[in-house]
Amino acid sequence: MSTPTATFKTLDDLESDQRVLVRLDLNSPIEDGEPQDNRRFERHAETVRELADAGHRVVLLAHQGRPGRDDFVSLAGHADILASHVGRDVGFVADTYGDDAIDAIEALEPGEILLLENTRMCDDELPEEDPEVKAETEFVQSLAPHFDAYVNDAYSAAHRSHASLVGFPQVLPAYAGRVMQTEYEANTAIAEKEFDGQVTMAVGGTKATDVIDVMNNLGEKVDDFLLGGIAGELFLRAAGHPVGFDLDPEQDLYDTQWEQNHELVEEMLAERGEQITLATDLAYEAEGERAEVDVDEIEEKDVSFLDVGTDTAEGYADVVRDSEAVFVKGALGVFEDERFSVGTVTVLEAIAETDCFSVVGGGDTSRAIGMYGMDEADFDHVSIAGGAYIRALTGQPLAGVEALKEQ
Ligand code: 3PG
Ligand code: MG
Repeated sequence: MSTPTATFKTLDDLESDQRVLVRLDLNSPIEDGEPQDNRRFERHAETVRELADAGHRVVLLAHQGRPGRDDFVSLAGHADILASHVGRDVGFVADTYGDDAIDAIEALEPGEILLLENTRMCDDELPEEDPEVKAETEFVQSLAPHFDAYVNDAYSAAHRSHASLVGFPQVLPAYAGRVMQTEYEANTAIAEKEFDGQVTMAVGGTKATDVIDVMNNLGEKVDDFLLGGIAGELFLRAAGHPVGFDLDPEQDLYDTQWEQNHELVEEMLAERGEQITLATDLAYEAEGERAEVDVDEIEEKDVSFLDVGTDTAEGYADVVRDSEAVFVKGALGVFEDERFSVGTVTVLEAIAETDCFSVVGGGDTSRAIGMYGMDEADFDHVSIAGGAYIRALTGQPLAGVEALKEQ
């Protein structure tokens, strides 16, 4: 892969024996108040271990949830999970920049690791403001004097202009961590890399606007968009099929999105129809089992579809096998339920078996790889980012990345 990393400094540029402040993204699913292990820990552990092994004093910043939500909890449990992946102790202090935090930071020996409390427990963190404003906050001003360098590894949070992401690069020499570097290179490649053969993108998930933005931004780059998920059903509806049924009107997965986007979707189908492949069959639940129907045979909008059909999945897999590069954004069905995993898994398996350049991301889609026994090594890049991945695909700058580039 070509490396556009000359745009920012990396750990290769870090001097020895530094006191480093490292921003990770450990934002995780929370069950009964406890963080659940996931690949974010595993990925960031590599950056943390590299820094500790090199003898730096390593202090970690991360966020969890948002104030007012159930997933807004302390990072105490995150420290233990991270330690298990790093293979070294990870200390924790229930303070982000007060005296307790500063005392713990000053007590660190070379090679020791300390995680500070949830950055979003500080009032200075969340309001989206310019880096210059963030740099002046008490949060940044209190912590920065205790460090020689700042490392941002939180690519998946880099679309946020929060203090811990954009403030510190204003006041400390700043570097990209290994996760930041890898994610940036792979996700930027989609828009910048040249491919000789067919470029395919499987797009699904729940948000029509994400799909529309991605298709508009990558329309020149991608030869064939294979649609699925809720977004795929909205395109099918625009093509005249009575699909997109809200089983629970309270949830409103389709109708509001339809009202807001159908004109644009109809226009895209009319103008670029040959670039867009829609499902020819869909799957639903009948008496507890997976059932399928041809799209042409659907006469009434009264079934909630949960996956693309088997014929569609196999057709999509054939397209993948003929491709030079394949990108995945969002799932083609409710893959968490094995009965409705066929579309997502068939496409991912075809990518894994094919010698194409591949990047998988967007929400939780990459979870299907581990859940269904595929090997991450069979993909060029599996992103741990959701919102940041979409923004990268749609060509929007990420505040946290821009802050590193300005160094
Ligand atoms: C994520 O989990 O997607 C990132 O950490 C960003 O979190 P946020 O959407 O709560 O800002
Ligand atoms: Mg491959």
